[in-house]
Amino acid sequence: PKKLSTTRMKKMKADGVPISMVTAYDYPSAKLAEEAGVDVILVGDSLGNVVQGQQSTLPVTLDDIIYHTKMVTRAATGTFVVADMPFMTYHGSIDQSLAGIGRLMREGLCQAVKMEGGAEIAHTVEASVRAGVPVVGHLGLTPQSVYQIGGYKVQGKNNEQARKLLDDAKALEQAGAFAIVLELTTDELSAEITRQLSIPTIGIGAGPNCDGQVLVFHDLLQYSSPAYPKKMVKTYANIGDSIRNGIAEYVKEVKNRSFPAQEHTFHADLEIAGQLYG
Ligand code: KIV
Ligand code: NA
Repeated sequence: PKKLSTTRMKKMKADGVPISMVTAYDYPSAKLAEEAGVDVILVGDSLGNVVQGQQSTLPVTLDDIIYHTKMVTRAATGTFVVADMPFMTYHGSIDQSLAGIGRLMREGLCQAVKMEGGAEIAHTVEASVRAGVPVVGHLGLTPQSVYQIGGYKVQGKNNEQARKLLDDAKALEQAGAFAIVLELTTDELSAEITRQLSIPTIGIGAGPNCDGQVLVFHDLLQYSSPAYPKKMVKTYANIGDSIRNGIAEYVKEVKNRSFPAQEHTFHADLEIAGQLYG
């Protein structure tokens, strides 16, 4: 496949062509996402939740993201890959932020980085873009600020909040972001931000009026145990059940000695073989 570019993504918005994005965290998931024809892969810090089993994204480190981004870009050689900047890695000096962004790009070999926040990180977005690193913004429910926000709740439900988020979106566009993820924002706000920006919006729990959609790999495929329902997610496959059933069948066949069968077994004429068969 031909890898997308930031300019082609903006053109997709202008042409009304939806952008599909999915997260991936390792070689096989990225390979499968690319083979499925996804436009953009996100190495999200949601890996803290779905891969590491953490309660939030806060414990995820830059080293963690680099480790996973390396595996993803090794697999998805024809797909545009964005990687998340983790919690507190882009809030100090510009020099510190650029050092982290530089490591992620140089070692992870991705095509862009994503950062949570609005006007307050615009100067960092601008510095990254000036250094040649494309940036995806992320507004609405920003999980790295969950304790500031006070929970995983829908954003942009009142006028004051909606106005601030619209201003933030414009500040990110002004700073040079080439796309913005909108998470858990009301359809009304998502639609208005999408209408007022020239860069694409990618929604998750943000309604059908965004320029693209993103879902977490483990969510849309039910690759988790136990499966947990979320209103914003649609289940497209249940690989959790497939994996559990497959392993249970293997365990059963080991116990009843039906695996391995002759077709899985190697043979040779050996003098000592008689000892075994007596
Ligand atoms: O980390 C992640 O998976 C994300 C998406 C939910 C947008 O940031
Ligand atoms: Na994230």
